[in-house]
Amino acid sequence: MEKKVKVGVIGVGRGRSMINYCVNAENAQVVAICDKWEKALDRVRSYYGESIAYYTSYDEFLKHDMDVVILANYSTEHAPFAIKAMQAGHHVISEVLPFQNMKEAVELIECVEKTGKIYCYAENYCYMEAPWEMRKIYQAGRIGELDYAEGEYIHNCERNWPDITYGDKDHWRNRISAFFYCTHSFGPIRHITGLRPVKVVGFEAPFRPICYRMGYRAGVSGTEMVTMENGGIVRSTHGNLKRNSVWYSLQGTLGSMETQREMADSTRYINHLFYDLLPADDSYLTFEHKSYDPKDELSEKAGSAGHGGSDYRCMWNAMEKILGNDKADTIDVYEAVEMCMVGLFAHFSVLSGGKEMLIPNLRNPEERDKWRNDTRCTDPKAAGDQLIPSVSTGTPDIPDSVYDDIRTIFESRHPQL
Ligand SMILES: NC(=O)c1ccc[n+]([C@@H]2O[C@H](COP(=O)([O-])OP(=O)(O)OC[C@H]3O[C@@H](n4cnc5c(N)ncnc54)[C@H](O)[C@@H]3O)[C@@H](O)[C@H]2O)c1
Repeated sequence: MEKKVKVGVIGVGRGRSMINYCVNAENAQVVAICDKWEKALDRVRSYYGESIAYYTSYDEFLKHDMDVVILANYSTEHAPFAIKAMQAGHHVISEVLPFQNMKEAVELIECVEKTGKIYCYAENYCYMEAPWEMRKIYQAGRIGELDYAEGEYIHNCERNWPDITYGDKDHWRNRISAFFYCTHSFGPIRHITGLRPVKVVGFEAPFRPICYRMGYRAGVSGTEMVTMENGGIVRSTHGNLKRNSVWYSLQGTLGSMETQREMADSTRYINHLFYDLLPADDSYLTFEHKSYDPKDELSEKAGSAGHGGSDYRCMWNAMEKILGNDKADTIDVYEAVEMCMVGLFAHFSVLSGGKEMLIPNLRNPEERDKWRNDTRCTDPKAAGDQLIPSVSTGTPDIPDSVYDDIRTIFESRHPQL
């Protein structure tokens, strides 16, 4: 039997998806779980049992005998937690997003280089069946060179905001800009094409009443207009707009492809693909048109796993990478940082009045020094004296009563927590 990767998970909210993967996996087993939220940790303990070790302290957890740490802690704190894990001798699988300021981006890359540990960015939307298939099609050259692409992750979270922010005014979800959560929309385009983003202009939709009601101090959506290294243009849009949409569309020099576009809940589970290929004689009026649900050897097992099976496929590839399977397709630290920089630089763009921002190539060590001390972000703890507003017109002021009301909803929905 194949060796199983010994897994430690921090964060028992989203982390449950990774724990559940390991419960049935042939290539992984959970040995330790960490969360500082004792009541939530106790519930997990009573569900998964005493064969797993439980910790409330991250430092103590890191001493456990394990191969990889899965980071499902706060989205804005992944870089320092990843660095600590790698320095303690563990590989890392990181939930979205990889960092919150450029200082952290440089430190994260250099830690991976120095320790030689494997870093896998768990951008699961790249692993949904249709974008997964699109990567194969693009990399085989079937649609030629990227001219234009669009990626959308529009998820109206108003109804479940109390469940995921607990009425905490300082929860990271209430502090981020409209551009922060950019890798579900941009990431798949980056991964499908393998192209590096080089420039970006940000467009911020206004702070709307829905944002106020949620206690979300950001514009209702962010759009990044990105130029890729081959000159191709990408529109990436994400946020709390009315109509949910997870959708990817690519136009190439030889053909085009796009995922299905549906209403609401089903859009989180995209698995249908359309694509059009120009015939060899380039007579563009006679496209070969295909429309199908792509399947591969993992489809059956991925089955009902979260986010259209992508949670399974993402974990399977990360574990295989750690086991040394060279067929594993993972997102390394450079690609992760590139996915995330489009959002941060789009935010810089709107703060500069809409200027185009050059995105550095942090694969080159000589480009890093300029960013080593750049802590600009919306989290006061990480930004220090370089704190920037979460909305270009100034961070909105939302009274405590809004958060108190959200807390009341949270408590009524989760009396056990
Ligand atoms: N890829 C996806 O589809 C997807 C979906 C949901 C959430 N996420 C990501 O998962 C992560 C977690 O999100 P969430 O929804 O579970 O909410 P969350 O960020 O509120 O939960 C984080 C959990 O980590 C724990 N934690 C934080 N700091 C800790 C510390 N220092 N020591 C011990 N425990 C600590 C918290 O108590 C909490 O239980 C985020 O990065 C989020 O972006 C990804």
